[in-house]
Amino acid sequence: MYFSVIKLLLLTSCARCANILGVFMFPSISHQIVYQPIWRELSLRGHQVTVVTPDPLNDPSLTNLTEISVRFTYDFLKQTKIQELMSKDVNVFYNLDKLFRFMDAIAEAELNSTQFQELINDQTKHFDLILIECFHPVMYALAGRFQAPIIGVSSLGLLASGYDIIGNPTHPALYPDVILSFHSKKLSLWQKLQSLLFNLWSRYYHHNILVPRADQMARRYFGEDIAYLGDLERNVSMYFLNVNPLMYPPRPNVPAIVEMGQMHIKPVKALPKDLQKILDEAAQGVVYFSLGSNVKSVNIPEGLRNNVIAALSELPYLVLWKWESDHLPGKPDNVIIRKWLPQQDVLAHPNIKAFVTQGGLQSTEEAISRGVPLVGMPFMGDQPMNVQKIVDLGIGLGVDPVTVTKNELKSSIIEVAENNK
Ligand SMILES: *[C@@H]1O[C@H](CO)[C@@H](O)[C@H](O)[C@H]1NC(C)=O
Ligand SMILES: *[C@@H]1O[C@H](CO)[C@@H](O)[C@H](O)[C@H]1NC(C)=O
Ligand SMILES: *[C@@H]1O[C@H](CO)[C@@H](O)[C@H](O)[C@H]1NC(C)=O
Repeated sequence: MYFSVIKLLLLTSCARCANILGVFMFPSISHQIVYQPIWRELSLRGHQVTVVTPDPLNDPSLTNLTEISVRFTYDFLKQTKIQELMSKDVNVFYNLDKLFRFMDAIAEAELNSTQFQELINDQTKHFDLILIECFHPVMYALAGRFQAPIIGVSSLGLLASGYDIIGNPTHPALYPDVILSFHSKKLSLWQKLQSLLFNLWSRYYHHNILVPRADQMARRYFGEDIAYLGDLERNVSMYFLNVNPLMYPPRPNVPAIVEMGQMHIKPVKALPKDLQKILDEAAQGVVYFSLGSNVKSVNIPEGLRNNVIAALSELPYLVLWKWESDHLPGKPDNVIIRKWLPQQDVLAHPNIKAFVTQGGLQSTEEAISRGVPLVGMPFMGDQPMNVQKIVDLGIGLGVDPVTVTKNELKSSIIEVAENNK
């Protein structure tokens, strides 16, 4: 399915090239790497592409691409501990509202930025198509401003309200929302009820709280002339969703929903020399440890960190830990820390025996594509659901970061690394 969406939509010779605007608002590289191939490929096919993103490609060879950087939005993530926003230990109703208020602030800062203002106030600008990351409804106002059709793009699925808008069936007992961390095959009656409640409440929240609030914001930046945001949103033409059928239950979709899987998986590249040497020489095997770009290893509570360090120190393997700081207090000898690692290429190395992950969708897909078994330690969002899926697929084990002990973590890693299954 890799790139097939784009290949299908854009025949190789570009008979009529379009002016395309892409607005991908959320400051998180794990989301942006799903979108980057879309704007890169569109520009390579001869379309004139303008993109607003916190993670520009900055590739001078892409001459048909104009990137407007909103990198400053990463400061919002630094100020707010995102895992506090979406911790699975607080109730989802409260979490969803907090998450959207957080996104309100990011969206408002982007709309208010000079770069964005120049874009929307430039009367000479014309777009044939607008792609938006459809997490937050305010960006649908761009349809009102530029009078162009919109395609919503998501690095995961949609909430029930999103499926409603495009006329897709939703069924709370069959397709519980990703935020609920239920796995559909095993829903108990109580979970079905919770899912039903959430399904109803999230629609109420969307139509009666979120959209009216976002409409007010849209009017501040796009003027009073635009149609009601809820109407603009309902006019969305298509959705491109990153829902890998391995990870999500298959569901019936209307033709306006296109499922794009594994957009971010790239062919294996050579590792940097030093890493290659380290991994080649680790004949006893290597455990790769990373909690991704949103949770981050440096942010975990001290108690958990001490358990992790103690467990890793007793492993008979080398551990490569994505630790986002120069210093790890009490670093065991068998642990190598790096602030950043080329994850897809590290996972492709034959000496990697296991991957300890927060269970983000992109990391999970990367591990599956490289054939590396997992130990999932989920913190927030869709991670608990993904880890449940990992366990159900038999490609790994899950541990709970709140209750996990040193011995449990150690034995889970060893089991995953040694079990030939
Ligand atoms: C830019 O677009 C033109 C057509 O508009 C196309 O011929 C050319 O190959 C594109 N260049 C790049 C580098 O994508
Ligand atoms: C928008 O930007 C202006 C100046 O750039 C600033 O004074 C104002 O407080 C900002 N408004 C919001 C809501 O951030
Ligand atoms: C919805 O889209 C159609 C076709 O592009 C357009 O004519 C109509 O004005 C749009 N409605 C709103 C509320 O913008």
